Amino acid sequence: MTEGCRCADTQEHSGADLALIEPVLERYAGDPGSLIPVLQETQRVYGYLPKDALREIAAARKIPLAKVYGVATFYSQFHLRPRGEKVIRICHGTACHVRGAPEVTRVIVEELGAKVGETTEDRAFTIESVACVGCCGLAPVMIVGEQTHGQLDNVKARTIVATLREEAELARGEIPPSAEEEEPA
Ligand code: FES
Repeated sequence: MTEGCRCADTQEHSGADLALIEPVLERYAGDPGSLIPVLQETQRVYGYLPKDALREIAAARKIPLAKVYGVATFYSQFHLRPRGEKVIRICHGTACHVRGAPEVTRVIVEELGAKVGETTEDRAFTIESVACVGCCGLAPVMIVGEQTHGQLDNVKARTIVATLREEAELARGEIPPSAEEEEPA
């Protein structure tokens, strides 16, 4: 099923290991109405929906690629680009917008070097713009994972990003935890 290249013309490769979704395709092979669960499981495998995987799904299920893309782009649960380990959701509802969300966004984009809707190169963070998250009294607000950060300004936004970056580096083992504790010689 993974043999050969089906994207000879203008389509690019995502580099996904297509063998990983063969069990998924086999499990749902006899069920033509199961495109959504197939996409959900594919996304679980890769963390997003790589282009190669979408082509593989279309070929395996003998349906037009446009149909697969149509479903994948219709539902907000599906992501066509790699996502970061942490998603930074910046609220752009009215209250947050009026109280400085655009400026906070500018700072975060500048600090992380990725635009809204993009993921940082190290795949640590994805920046998203969202509608009102329901805590307008704290505007401007951003949500990182389960945590809500409110009353943001440039300084606070930079501090939060610096902390998040440090946490990501620590998690990857890039900052030895003992480094800060070492006594000067
Ligand atoms: S507008 Fe941002 S929380 Fe409501």
